[in-house]
Amino acid sequence: MRYEVDFLVVGSGIAGLSFALKVAPYGKVCILTKGAADEGSTRYAQGGIAAVMYDSDSFDKHIHDTLVAGDGICDREVVEMTIREAPDRIRELVQYGVEFDRVPNTEHRTPDAERRFDLHREGGHSEFRILHHKDNTGEEIERGLLEAARRHPNIEIKERQFAIDIITQHHLGQRVTKHTPDIECYGVYALDCDTNRIDTYLAKVTLLATGGMGNVYSTTTTPVISTGDGVAMVHRARGVLSDLEFMQFHPTSLYNPAEKPAFLITEAMRGAGAVLKDRDGKEFMQKYDKRLSLAPRDIVARAIDNEMKLRGKDYLYLDARSIGKRHLIEGFPTIYAKCLSIGIDITRDMIPIRPAAHYQCGGIKVDRNGESSIKNLYAAGECSCTGLHGGNRLASNSLLEAVVYAHNAAMAAIKNIQTNTSKPNSKIPDWNAEGMVLNEEMVLITQTKHELQEIMWNYVGIVRSDLRLQRAFDRLNLIFRETEELYNRSVLIEPLCELRNLIACSYLIIKMARARRQNVGLHYSIDLV
Ligand code: FAD
Ligand code: SIN
Repeated sequence: MRYEVDFLVVGSGIAGLSFALKVAPYGKVCILTKGAADEGSTRYAQGGIAAVMYDSDSFDKHIHDTLVAGDGICDREVVEMTIREAPDRIRELVQYGVEFDRVPNTEHRTPDAERRFDLHREGGHSEFRILHHKDNTGEEIERGLLEAARRHPNIEIKERQFAIDIITQHHLGQRVTKHTPDIECYGVYALDCDTNRIDTYLAKVTLLATGGMGNVYSTTTTPVISTGDGVAMVHRARGVLSDLEFMQFHPTSLYNPAEKPAFLITEAMRGAGAVLKDRDGKEFMQKYDKRLSLAPRDIVARAIDNEMKLRGKDYLYLDARSIGKRHLIEGFPTIYAKCLSIGIDITRDMIPIRPAAHYQCGGIKVDRNGESSIKNLYAAGECSCTGLHGGNRLASNSLLEAVVYAHNAAMAAIKNIQTNTSKPNSKIPDWNAEGMVLNEEMVLITQTKHELQEIMWNYVGIVRSDLRLQRAFDRLNLIFRETEELYNRSVLIEPLCELRNLIACSYLIIKMARARRQNVGLHYSIDLV
């Protein structure tokens, strides 16, 4: 089938939905999403969204905290713009119907909507500035935005549609290299996961909002859909990518080895007073940083990794008992219930934790309007690289970046379609699946994915070395060749496309990690200073 729209959006998390809602008054919008519409990292976000809402805090402090966490390599102008825009974007989220917790109504006079937001604090933040909805902020944001998008007559959301590749001049038979000037995007080819048919979606403007790539690693907090598809597509289309060596590991995922994805224990718990302890119940962060358990994530994750390796243990502890029973049960109901379901009463027991791959700071390089190096192709959210995070993202700056850049990209895309009169090219061919055979051995895909995730975890994880990176690269080469061969002869199915994308992302992470000859932010090698 062939479809033509004004705005094509790939992804229905906070970035894709925010963009769609903004452009919808100006044209027909189609959102493709590979699973259920609400499935993505957004829905699992716990801590919240960072913004300076009151005079007790200041933009300068939030800017400073972001630059410090980013280890000196953030784009300062981007940081300033994002943080100054934050309050406007938060007010829009509220207008779309998203609810953030507010301080209790002690006087029984103030209308609910006028009460001040209740603010949390997380690692690396010098102030309480995290707007949240209990400990399930992402679920509330996804709900609010999805409901608003579903109400809009110009927005169509198509579930279980897997974008395989962006369409460029390459599909018109032209040779496209990374030096080709003016590579253009005409839309995407997408696999209908129910029928296995591959459709052609043509659009004046395409936005990639495909989220992260946590599943490159064996232990991750990210949902199974986070397979780096957008980054891999842009890589194949010869677009510019950046900063992929900066994979963020969250210090505290719940240690429950059989569970995938790993359940997150929000940093807001450390903000409320929980502390990290070793297996003897002793605090250890004083050995690593004066900010203790609230140091930026790269430092805390490395400290935990080191303590675990020194003692040969699989997990350490987070002790939240000092927070108090009532605050724990009312303020962190999701975590309380989850831990209780596996026999841990967080009001009485310490929580077993270990780091897990959590967030990709790098991605599709975009300018301040969210425009990629490919014409008519925009990117927002976790798949993009704006320069905000530098070497390490400050907690709760990700949801913020997604809404700010979805807004900027929407404003630019609206202008683009008003001036861009070119019609989608009728010469673009449909996908050719002739001669492809059904792959009947799923183990070729599942085992390879497992191998890849272990290689990345063991050799390209929190602490790296030249030798580990070389080993990972050599092993990846074999996996790459075998999977390309399978891809080139098989009828396409989602797990095979995802595996191919995970391999491409792993290759890019290793390549960029090898090129970075200095320890900075999340990139740490024992061979570098
Ligand atoms: P996602 O929400 O991941 O959405 C990606 C979308 O793209 C999905 O709809 C998916 O189906 C679709 N998609 C992907 N590939 C394809 C394809 N090939 N074809 C079609 N559709 C595709 N950040 C914060 O700022 N604060 C927090 O408190 C916070 N907590 C977090 C907790 C957890 C457990 C995790 C995992 C992350 C957390 N983060 C947090 C990070 C933040 O949630 C994410 O970075 C953010 O939600 C990403 O939003 P997104 O719209 O870019 O992508
Ligand atoms: C958390 O709640 O700890 C996650 C916050 C984030 O990833 O920004």
